[in-house]
Amino acid sequence: MIQFILNDKEIFTDLPKGELLLDLIRYNKNLTGTKIGCREGDCGACTVLIGEIINGQLRYRTVTSCLTPLGNVEGKHVVTVEGLNLPAGTPGMEKLNPVQQAMYNEGATQCGFCTPGFIVSFAGFCLSEDEKSYGNAIAAIDGNICRCTGYKSIQRAAKNIAALMQKNNGDVIEYVTSNSILPEYFLGIKKRLVDLNSKTNGVKKTSENGNKYLGGGTDLYVQQHEKMVHADIDFLFNKYELNGIRKDVNKCIMGASVTVTDLMESEIIKKAFPDFRKISKLVSSTPIRNIATIAGNFVNASPIGDFTILFLALNSNVMLSDGINKREVALREFYKGYKQIDKKEEEFIEHIWFELPDKKDLFNLEKVSKRTHLDIASVNSAISIKTDGKMILNAGLSAGGVGPVPLYLFKTSAFLKEKKITEDLIVEAVEIAQSEISPISDTRGSEEYKRLLLSQLIKAHFITLFPALCLSKGRTYI
Ligand SMILES: Cc1cc2nc3c(=O)[nH]c(=O)nc-3n(C[C@H](O)[C@H](O)[C@H](O)COP(=O)(O)OP(=O)(O)OC[C@H]3O[C@@H](n4cnc5c(N)ncnc54)[C@H](O)[C@@H]3O)c2cc1C
Ligand code: FES
Ligand code: FES
Repeated sequence: MIQFILNDKEIFTDLPKGELLLDLIRYNKNLTGTKIGCREGDCGACTVLIGEIINGQLRYRTVTSCLTPLGNVEGKHVVTVEGLNLPAGTPGMEKLNPVQQAMYNEGATQCGFCTPGFIVSFAGFCLSEDEKSYGNAIAAIDGNICRCTGYKSIQRAAKNIAALMQKNNGDVIEYVTSNSILPEYFLGIKKRLVDLNSKTNGVKKTSENGNKYLGGGTDLYVQQHEKMVHADIDFLFNKYELNGIRKDVNKCIMGASVTVTDLMESEIIKKAFPDFRKISKLVSSTPIRNIATIAGNFVNASPIGDFTILFLALNSNVMLSDGINKREVALREFYKGYKQIDKKEEEFIEHIWFELPDKKDLFNLEKVSKRTHLDIASVNSAISIKTDGKMILNAGLSAGGVGPVPLYLFKTSAFLKEKKITEDLIVEAVEIAQSEISPISDTRGSEEYKRLLLSQLIKAHFITLFPALCLSKGRTYI
């Protein structure tokens, strides 16, 4: 039996753990406010909130319920759009909360199909620790698509919702409940989750093993939805020992279940990579980043996996385990051929580590896709450079979409080492990089176009990291 809290009710279900949360919500619980659009994480119509206790605090994040299996919400609080309604005073009646009212007042809904998803994402914004700015309210709906209203009225609603939250400077749950923004039952959820988890116990979660490893499910449920429902899944996402980001001297060690959002919110990462948040916003959308794990990105082995490209440039290592034996593999040696990796079937990634940069290190990620957001890269590239300002002391350059695997450009990286940064150096580096890649023509562009893109991205790295140098002759390289 899986147990969790759905809105204000405790749920027990004997549905398979691989069953999708979306299907339980709509077909089993008849909560049809949550809509089905794409079933691939792209439209946001199925967005729900997941609350769990992390480091003693109740934390809510939005997720796409169309890619979230029941096993990943065990012991947590699931909130659908129905769970956000306020009681009307008359028993059994409900009224709109101020978030819903803001959408209504601004005419931000027409057919209404996308509206529950927007409301839930805005509620996620209200409950988050983010600064309650208009910009962050807009960022919270980056995974929601509206096909008929147009976005201007939704933007006006976002402004009003941000204003609702701006007076809070204390506990967010107390604020939203005492100001009748969200229903009062949210106040009791923390204690109910503690009680629920002490009954079901975390130990069970850590010792349960299936033969199919699952992180957030954002690749597996898109690729193999039908198969996953009855698969014998090992839910790594819920294993406490695989969570968390920590620093050990100058190493950053990330558990296999660390998500993109975990990285964006980590103080260790913010300090080491001040632009990390900006860079990460080029990758998928808020509800996907909330569940997409870095280990999942590595094992999916897409030649254009954004985080694979990023961590290749940082010379990361993966610790593999079969539960008894462990071995470490450099990410640069992990990819053997298209979708072939140096990992035995029984092995899972336990953690990932890399050396934290120091003041001499610079880092940049570039991505070109047909749309800026929520799109797969045509070509992406990352660079990590240790420099004294004039000389490159060490360099790591990676590139995606230009070969059958995510590539670490060994020759180009070695060439850059111990060289003075000049225009000629960059031109030569671009030429060497061209000899290391083998792009093919496909829907994301012709071979020739991808070659051109990589050249431009390498130049973009230098323009971004050394703006003074690139502008010193009064021109840029592009
Ligand atoms: C709408 C949408 C947008 C997306 N946008 C982007 C994007 O912009 N850039 C990008 O790079 N990707 C993108 N993705 C792809 C996906 O989100 C990422 O690849 C993500 O990091 C996968 O992680 P996951 O935890 O969801 O993987 P899962 O689907 O859970 O697993 C993926 C694979 O990894 C294996 N696995 C997971 N964890 C482990 C482990 N610890 N050890 C061993 N094997 C493991 C699984 O068995 C499976 O084979 C997008 C996906 C969606 C649905
Ligand atoms: S149905 Fe489109 S994101 Fe889930
Ligand atoms: S109101 Fe119709 S899709 Fe948004």
